[in-house]
Parts: sequence; structure tokens; C-alpha cells
Amino acid sequence: MARKGKATVVGAGFYGSTTAMRLAEYDVFETVVLTDIIEGKPEGLALDMNQSRPIEGFETKVIGQSTGPNGEGYEAIAGSDVVVITAGLPRKPGMSRMDLIETNAKIVRGVAEQVAKHAPDAVIIVVSNPLDEMTALTQLATGFPKQRVIGQAGMLDTARFSHFVAETLGVPVGSVRTLTLGSHGDTMVPVPSRCTVDGKPLSELLPADTIEELVVRTRNGGAEVVALLKTGSAYYAPSAAAARMAKAVIEDSGAVMPVCAWVDGEYGIEGVYLGVEAEIGKGGVRRVVETALTDTEKAGLLEAAVAVRAKQADVKDL
Ligand code: LAC
Repeated sequence: MARKGKATVVGAGFYGSTTAMRLAEYDVFETVVLTDIIEGKPEGLALDMNQSRPIEGFETKVIGQSTGPNGEGYEAIAGSDVVVITAGLPRKPGMSRMDLIETNAKIVRGVAEQVAKHAPDAVIIVVSNPLDEMTALTQLATGFPKQRVIGQAGMLDTARFSHFVAETLGVPVGSVRTLTLGSHGDTMVPVPSRCTVDGKPLSELLPADTIEELVVRTRNGGAEVVALLKTGSAYYAPSAAAARMAKAVIEDSGAVMPVCAWVDGEYGIEGVYLGVEAEIGKGGVRRVVETALTDTEKAGLLEAAVAVRAKQADVKDL
């Protein structure tokens, strides 16, 4: 199999290291670079991942690189096709994603500036929280075209929704299709009208109040995991989502995925990073794909756009 390209994951916490491992195991990249500010951590994790290659049977090489306060070490990411930014603090129990905004804005801004300097042609996938705001900040800090900066959230929220539906009905997850749009936060918009099981509308299979319970559980999906873990936040499902997005970029697949993308005109919404479905390829977002929504869902999306736009306006000063 022809491997090509270079993916970088910034941040070797659980989210970042799991993402790097998934990317390496896909065996489609030539190189996966994992960076962190903790000296030795990315190097050690990369060595460990490389040693799993004979067992898992992949050839992608993982390079670990610690980075210094003035950008030392970032040369290692030069020429990256795709960069996943996981840097920043996760939530503690009881915190909202928005509680992280000031701390993570500083961290993400610093990382974004280094990425712009060393990997000016990369597509960036942001996963740091609060997601929609950190995606907007990364675009501002890099000056990259908006299509080349995407946030990961919709894939994750949709996966959680699908899991809950499959569990409730006792059906294979593969038979379930769901969708969430809007923000990766309080104004997340699960879209029940787009939910099916083996092609049948969810509304014919579950009573409305049960669907609403699953919607609420999806909206609180991240917090539910945080409350159980007590330290740190989810990373298996989040990393799966981020890694699939990076794969769509390197394969230029045109896969349609729910992501945080720049919306300007679609759904009648102007100029904001928001959770929508988009076609993903080597240049990032090829186009935002509009889907038919019920009046309630459309209203939810418009409300999310207003809330997120207000917050995103603040990030330039952070
Ligand atoms: C979550 C975090 C990663 O939703 O945003 O689990």
C-alpha cells in the first residue's frame, strides 16, 4: 500500500496520543509526528507506538518531539499535510467547556502561530475546548484560509447519539444513522429528523420523550464521561472522530462529515464557525452540505449560530 504524507498531532495527552496511535494504525501516512511541551513524553510514546508496529502490522513511522517555550522543536512538523491541535486543558467535573476559554486560548494561540510558521500548507483540525471558539481563534492566529481550519465535534456528538440509540433499541450501531449540528456545547442541535435505524425513521421506533432523553444525554455526553473519570475528559471516541477527519484529508476522500466549519451563507447564516455537515478533502472543507431540517431544528441551528458568533467575537482579544 502506498503511504503518503505527514500528520502532526500537537499535545500528547490521552486525546493526542490516542489520535496519533489511530493515525499510525491506519497505515496510510508516511509519518505521524506527536509533539508535547513535556520533555520526553512524546518521544517515549512514539517509541512505544513504533514498537507496536510488528504486532499491529503497520509501517507508518511515529516521531515524538518535545517543544520549548519559544517554539524549539517545531521544525519537526515541517511539511505536515494535516495538523491536529489537541493542546490545552481538559475539563474537570462540574466545569463547562466554556470555563476553559481563557487558559486554552493562550495555549492554542501559541500553537497555531508555530503551525503557521512551520506547516503553512497544512489543514488544521482543532479539538481543544471550547471547540467552536478555539477553531475560530486558530484561523485568526494562523491567517489560514477558513476552509483549511476545521473543528472536531459533530463526528463525536453524532457518534454518541448513534451509540445511545443503538443501546436503547438493542440494535447494531452500524444500522443507526444520526446527526448533530450547532455548537459543541449547550447549543448543540441533535437532528432527530435525520435519525434512522435500518433506514426507518427513529420517530417510528421510539416515543418522542425517549428520543428527547437521548438528545439530552447526547448534549451532555462529554460531561457524563468527565463526571465518571474525575480527572480528564473523554478520548477514545473524540480521537476516533479527529483521526477519521485527518484520514479524509490525506485521502482527499470528499467524505461528508459533521464538523465545525466556516459557514457563510448556508442555512442563511453569515460568517461563523459552526457545526454543520461538510465535504472534507485535501484542502480541508470543500463545501458545506446543507440538509433539510424541521422548523425546530432550523431554529436551534440559528440560535447556536448567534450564541457561538457572540463568543467567537471575543476570542480575538484572548
Ligand atoms: C468531549 C470533549 C472532548 O465532548 O469535548 O468529550
